[in-house]
Amino acid sequence: MTLEPGSAAARALFPVTERYAYLNHAAVSPLNRRTADAMRRWVADWEAHGTRAYPPPETLQAYRERAATLLNARPDEIAFTRNTTEGLLLVARGLDWRPGDNIVTVETEFTANVYPWKNAEPEGVTIRRVPARGGRIAVDDVLEAVDHRTRVVAISFVEFYTGYRNDLVRLGAACRQRGVRFCVDAIQGAGVLPIDVEAMQIDFLATGGPKWLLGPMGAGFFYCRREHVDALDPRLYGWLSTADPENFFDYDQPLSPTASRFEWGTFSWPSLVGLMESVALLLEVGVERIAEYVLDLTGELIAALKARGYELITPAERREERSGIVTFRPTSASPEEVVGRLEAAGVVVSPRGDGIRVAPHFYNTWEDIARLLDALP
Ligand SMILES: Cc1ncc(COP(=O)(O)O)c(C=O)c1O
Repeated sequence: MTLEPGSAAARALFPVTERYAYLNHAAVSPLNRRTADAMRRWVADWEAHGTRAYPPPETLQAYRERAATLLNARPDEIAFTRNTTEGLLLVARGLDWRPGDNIVTVETEFTANVYPWKNAEPEGVTIRRVPARGGRIAVDDVLEAVDHRTRVVAISFVEFYTGYRNDLVRLGAACRQRGVRFCVDAIQGAGVLPIDVEAMQIDFLATGGPKWLLGPMGAGFFYCRREHVDALDPRLYGWLSTADPENFFDYDQPLSPTASRFEWGTFSWPSLVGLMESVALLLEVGVERIAEYVLDLTGELIAALKARGYELITPAERREERSGIVTFRPTSASPEEVVGRLEAAGVVVSPRGDGIRVAPHFYNTWEDIARLLDALP
């Protein structure tokens, strides 16, 4: 039986629904029962059996396949990381920069997609930030900033504050045509909007677990297109980066020929186990179905906010530019005050900048949105 978005069965997986209208998935998601159970099982097994409970090598391969399925990638293009930043750093530190190179990014990025690139500045690399217009990022504006010294276009799938969904298909095609690497911070989209690294011609992608992927903190993954694995200098590598990590007595091994070379030491297994259980859940429900459901729900929220005279920070006219995030300006009090009031009414959202950011996932329903609207001043 398929798990329908918004169904009683979907809600039953999320104990948080017993107390809250939880609309904060762009910040951190609550754990669902399956993920929490998988993590609890891992801890109990480890407690009872120690290394006898060590996951077999097939587990990691199955995890790579699962993460790859979510992105339409290949398992050997996936490296497990702790967070998004780690993946972005691999690119910012790993490319063969030459003085005078530049990186093109945009002005509305979250800081996680800002600071890693500064690591390239000491190598003579400059960073160009393209402004948004009314919260929208025009592909043509990005391409206008690209010149013959641009090595990377670095952009989020979804902008963390405005919720604007970038046109990755057009950007990816234009980057490929110009021989520029296309690097995507996917954390505000992965799990709620479909991603296809082939159709989007993405070269590098980094994401973390605790937002729309519904995972715990401390695990994420990095996608590196197969043909770039050799060209991206890992800078830091360790025993797990080698071709045969179980060969403990050979100190001269080559690096792994796959993206696993970017994994230098032991994983945070409880986090990884949790994240992969969450990814299994998302694949079971179907990311396409999740996207349509969440876009319908946020569409209704947008209409209701407009009807009540709220100003939207999210560019909301076109469905293909929307995401799971809706940000609006409160009228009578500061975002922090309003969010405090909403929390007292059991509605969990975040203040961001001048606005209140609302971010429902597939188990939320119109009742959760109505609870938010009822509690607004
Ligand atoms: C666009 C974006 N990237 C990255 C992050 C988090 O980065 P990390 O996973 O490295 O903690 C956030 C968190 O708010 C974000 O909004």
